[in-house]
Amino acid sequence: MTSSPLLELDHVGRRFPLPSGGELEVLRDAGLRLMTGETVAVIGPSGSGKSTLLNLAGALDLPTSGEIRFAGEPLAGRSEKELARFRNHEVGFIFQLHHLLPQCTALENVLVPTLVPGSSDSGSARQRAIDLLQRVGLGERLDAFPAVLSGGERQRVAVVRALINRPRLLLADEPTGALDATAAAALGDLLLELNRELGTALLVVTHSRELAARMRRSLTLRDGELRPTDRR
Ligand SMILES: Nc1ncnc2c1ncn2[C@@H]1O[C@H](COP(=O)(O)OP(=O)(O)O)[C@@H](O)[C@H]1O
Ligand SMILES: [Mg+2]
Repeated sequence: MTSSPLLELDHVGRRFPLPSGGELEVLRDAGLRLMTGETVAVIGPSGSGKSTLLNLAGALDLPTSGEIRFAGEPLAGRSEKELARFRNHEVGFIFQLHHLLPQCTALENVLVPTLVPGSSDSGSARQRAIDLLQRVGLGERLDAFPAVLSGGERQRVAVVRALINRPRLLLADEPTGALDATAAAALGDLLLELNRELGTALLVVTHSRELAARMRRSLTLRDGELRPTDRR
C-alpha cells in the first residue's frame, strides 16, 4: 500500500507579539510529514510550543512563516469559511480536559459537531454517535451527564465527539494528562484501536513516555524545531 502525506509542515514558524513590544518566537523551523493513517507523538518541555503546533495543524491558528499543507493542499489563502469547514470535517480535537458541555448528555455532547451546516444528516449522525459510544464501551451511558461519568469515561466521550464527523486526522493535546495510570493506558489502547479500525491519523502531544512509545514515531519539540525523539 502506498501512503500519501496527510499533514505537512514545512519550515513552520510562529511568533507572538509581546506586550513589551518584542516578539516571542515559539516555533522557528518546525518540519513534519504525517502520512495518511499514521500515528506520531510529540513530546517536549512545558512551554516548548506543543499546543501552538497542534493549533496550527488544526487551523485554529496560522503560522507566521513556512507552509502547512493538508492532503497536499496549502492551508494558507483559504477563506475563513473554508477554514471552518476544514476544522469541522477534516480534523478532530481532544484536549487534556474533556471540554464536554455539562448540561448535555454524553450522546448530545457527541452530536454537537454535527450541528454545524454541511454535516451529515442528523438521523445518520445520531446512529453513528450511538454506534461509536457503544464501540468505546459507553452504550449504557448515552443519557449520562458528564458530572456522573469518570474521568476516563468523559475522555472517551470526547474521543467519540472528535471522531463523529469522520475526520482524517485526530489532534490530541495531552489526552491522558488528567487521567490515572489505568485510565490513561485504556485511552491509549482506544486511540490506537480506532486508528487501526477507522484509519484516522493521530498526532498526539503527550508527557507520557509510555503513550509516546506506542505511536509509530515520536518527535521532540525543542528550540522551535521538531526532531526524532532520542529513545533511551
Ligand atoms: N496566543 C499567544 N500569545 C502569546 N504567547 C503565546 C500564545 N500562545 C502561546 N504563547 C506562548 O508560547 C509558548 C508556548 O506555549 P504552548 O504552545 O502552550 O506550549 P506547550 O503546549 O508546549 O506547553 C509559551 O511561552 C506561551 O506563553
Ligand atoms: Mg500545551
